[in-house]
Amino acid sequence: MTKIFVAGATGYIGINVVKSALEQKFEVVAASRKESADFDLKDQNLTVIKITESDDSWLAKLQDIDVVISCLASRSGEPKDAHNVDFKLNKLILEKAKDIGCSHFILLSAICVQKPKLAFQFEKLAFEETLINSKLNFSIIRPTAYFKSLSGQIENIKKGKPYVYFGDGKLTQCNPISEKDLSLFILSCIQDRNKWKQILPIGGPNQSLTPKNVGEMLFKIFEVTPKYRSFPVKILDVIGLFFLISSPFSKWAKNKLELIRIAKYYATESMLVWDEGKMNYDHFKTPSTGNDTLEQYFYSIKNQKLELNIDRDSKLY
Ligand SMILES: NC(=O)c1ccc[n+]([C@@H]2O[C@H](COP(=O)([O-])OP(=O)(O)OC[C@H]3O[C@@H](n4cnc5c(N)ncnc54)[C@H](OP(=O)(O)O)[C@@H]3O)[C@@H](O)[C@H]2O)c1
Repeated sequence: MTKIFVAGATGYIGINVVKSALEQKFEVVAASRKESADFDLKDQNLTVIKITESDDSWLAKLQDIDVVISCLASRSGEPKDAHNVDFKLNKLILEKAKDIGCSHFILLSAICVQKPKLAFQFEKLAFEETLINSKLNFSIIRPTAYFKSLSGQIENIKKGKPYVYFGDGKLTQCNPISEKDLSLFILSCIQDRNKWKQILPIGGPNQSLTPKNVGEMLFKIFEVTPKYRSFPVKILDVIGLFFLISSPFSKWAKNKLELIRIAKYYATESMLVWDEGKMNYDHFKTPSTGNDTLEQYFYSIKNQKLELNIDRDSKLY
């Protein structure tokens, strides 16, 4: 039986990877920082190991692992945390994977690293390069946008507040992918040799949506009278300038500046494959997989089949 170690197993995608892997009868070792995580602990194929930040002794518990799947990501996106998690922690696990003779390292990365501007993107890229040069078999998965990242305004519009976007609401596009479809794609890398030693951009089934399209979809599904509010992208530059001036004197301002940069990035860059020759994003060059549509997902939230933890789940990156 193939034994998988899932790092970042308590995250939005990690939880789903563990669930799908158990359904596919893999033996799973899941890493958790928490005492109690949302796993089905009755499943005999699941072992949960506790990751502690203070020391690396937990690594000794990794034995006989065939495949590492890393869904690790900095929770804050702040530069230091991104370095510690997206680069250093992944590298530590890679070293251990090599030591114990693991045969394949699957990394969940992000499509936005194709046009890097942000600290966390450079950390992800640095680890991608380390992995590629490691001589271990690898699959690097760069998904487009997650459904959760397009759900952050649901509670507001249900309360009659406007749907907010930048510019005309058509500055960017994405082809979002569900957590289930992405998890199945990640697991398919284990057997599918065409996905070995590859960087794999991936989106959902054939939907290319602007922020305005998402707003229209939400108003229709939640049966609320449409109300929109647009902000110029320049407003982010103005706020950013304030933090830029204060950043040499304040760590707080430095971190806030990075968060404004992250917001501007997602307000202006599409989550599709970038065509360097044509200097544009190309929906048709963005591979897609799965069956789940954003529309179905919003309907399941409306019908309360899905609980949404807005604070935790709606992070952009
Ligand atoms: N949001 C999007 O639309 C989008 C699109 C494309 C790609 N991505 C990428 O997809 C990846 C996964 O995203 P996600 O939303 O599933 O991430 P997430 O929900 O934030 O999960 C991050 C995981 O990493 C763990 N982690 C964070 N810091 C840690 C630390 N210091 N030590 C140990 N574990 C730590 C978390 O553990 P805890 O639960 O204990 O915090 C959690 O299990 C990221 O690389 C992200 O950039 C996101």
